[in-house]
Amino acid sequence: MLRTHTCGELNKKHAGMNVILSGWVSRIRDLGGIKFIILRDRYGETQVVVNPDSDAYSTAQEIGREFVIQVEGEVRERPEETKTNTLTGEIEVYASKINILSTAEVPPFFPGEKVSEELRLRYRYIDLRSKMMKDNIILRHKMAQAAREFLNKHGFLEIETPFLTKSTPEGARDFLVPSRLQKGKFYALPQSPQLFKQLLMISGFDKYYQFARCFRDEDLRADRQPEFTQIDIEMSFIDEEDILKIMEEFIRFVYNSVGINLPEKFDRLTYEEAMEKYGSDKPDRRFGMELLDFTEEFIDTEFRVVKNILEINGSVKGFITDIPISRKIASEYEEIVKKFGLGGLLWFKIENDKVISPTAKFLSNNYLKLKEKFKLKEGDVVLLAAYTNRNVLNEALGTLRLKIGKEHFSEKMKSFDALWVIDFPFLEWNEEEQRYVARHHPFTLPKNLDDSPENIKAYAYDMILNGNELGGGSLRIYNEKIQEKVFELIGLSKTEAREKFGFLLDALQLGAPPHGGIAFGFDRMVAIASGSDNIRDVIAFPKTASGVCQLTGAPSDVSKMQLEELGIIINNSNRKNQKD
Ligand code: AMO
Repeated sequence: MLRTHTCGELNKKHAGMNVILSGWVSRIRDLGGIKFIILRDRYGETQVVVNPDSDAYSTAQEIGREFVIQVEGEVRERPEETKTNTLTGEIEVYASKINILSTAEVPPFFPGEKVSEELRLRYRYIDLRSKMMKDNIILRHKMAQAAREFLNKHGFLEIETPFLTKSTPEGARDFLVPSRLQKGKFYALPQSPQLFKQLLMISGFDKYYQFARCFRDEDLRADRQPEFTQIDIEMSFIDEEDILKIMEEFIRFVYNSVGINLPEKFDRLTYEEAMEKYGSDKPDRRFGMELLDFTEEFIDTEFRVVKNILEINGSVKGFITDIPISRKIASEYEEIVKKFGLGGLLWFKIENDKVISPTAKFLSNNYLKLKEKFKLKEGDVVLLAAYTNRNVLNEALGTLRLKIGKEHFSEKMKSFDALWVIDFPFLEWNEEEQRYVARHHPFTLPKNLDDSPENIKAYAYDMILNGNELGGGSLRIYNEKIQEKVFELIGLSKTEAREKFGFLLDALQLGAPPHGGIAFGFDRMVAIASGSDNIRDVIAFPKTASGVCQLTGAPSDVSKMQLEELGIIINNSNRKNQKD
């Protein structure tokens, strides 16, 4: 028997018992001959004591950190003054025998040590031995099990869909897989199981879910990986209200299973409201500071720059806060809005009942109006900007607002805020391609298809948690004619639409029920629950920002023979000898 107990299990009730533990040597201390070994496994750490007169002592002399050892010995309750309130802090194990199961070189770092993420990813198996990473992986497991429990209880069936599938336009760039049997042809790895889950609805499986690995060749960030996991869900014979209701319950259940209580009812904001109030379609509302419209108060301003903007139908917006402000800080904030094309930022603060601002003399009249309307009080700081394009103005101020929130309201950021954003625009204009593209995806059901393209709204919804897009979904088109019309709107010709999505168009003619669904970014769900803003912290083996797996070295060269079998010739002039 390699172990009778785990390293996280023993307490004073086990005192007097002879036990066998196995695990990694976390630390060794030598106190005047007596050795203390902290033994670690997945469950915790246990202190092992090795006396110089025990048979185990000579072996203990040979062991180093991260060795894997087996310890046999007696559990003894620690003297009161040496007890700790850790899992096994009441006891220690007096070793009678130590067996080295595996030696270890000195590792490049010890679990939990602060080192670069690159090194952590290269030796991920060592990193995963740390308490933080172990806790995160266990949290992930618990949330996955809770998700399955909820969905199973509500009659959803877990069904897998293919990884090797067809490349389709729209969305991000595909990862392609060359086919050997059909030389010159490619599979694509799925960006999501979107079309398959719709086909499952058409097949009659009215409630489906899947923990789906999705692959997207897009620019990576802290909340994006090239392969990530979605909890993908689809339902038939439902309306938007049905989906929002059950999915809200679902998310509440999953978070509750790991001790996080989300609000009883999630607020709903339309896309337009979210943009107007927070300058973002994934608003973080935890620190207030809603964007306000100050255009009225500036209508007869003497301040030239603002006046010019208002004359061409521009707006003045801003927000009220109470952060410290100075010319230096304001000019740093100004750089942020300038990136959006805005000319600058106006600011003032109320101090000793006076208005303090570098532009005070131009704006005194406006300040009085603002003070009255917004009931400004001592210490208030107002940040304002004017711009011709209201959407850009909202976005710029939204970005500034978020930066200030993160910098100054970290306490408030510890709470949880969940909401839905609904009523998304159906299309968005793509400058590069000079055409409309579907904002969610082209299988989303439009609300008012006959309206002008920029006014069409979608039956689409995003769930936002703490300013993160946790999930997004929509009702789907279940009528071939509407689907064709949508393809036409996004500039996909009839032939192209047939070639790419013929299988869907056919299916839509053969008995498609009304259906809709959603997909949650599972990595994001766990990251938020763990308190990390980096999804790499909750994925066992993630990739770096440049899409490299530090551990295995993927992507890597393949042999000439492999390429030949696939009929692929590499154009060496395009090759980048990139280092990660
Ligand atoms: P969408 O593209 O919005 O919708 O994706 C759903 C959720 O997946 C997460 N997500 C990601 N997580 C990590 N890395 C990425 N690169 C990444 N991209 C997206 C986000 C997002 O909200 N088929 C539709 C869903 C549907 O309509 O049912 C879809 O994939 O949390």
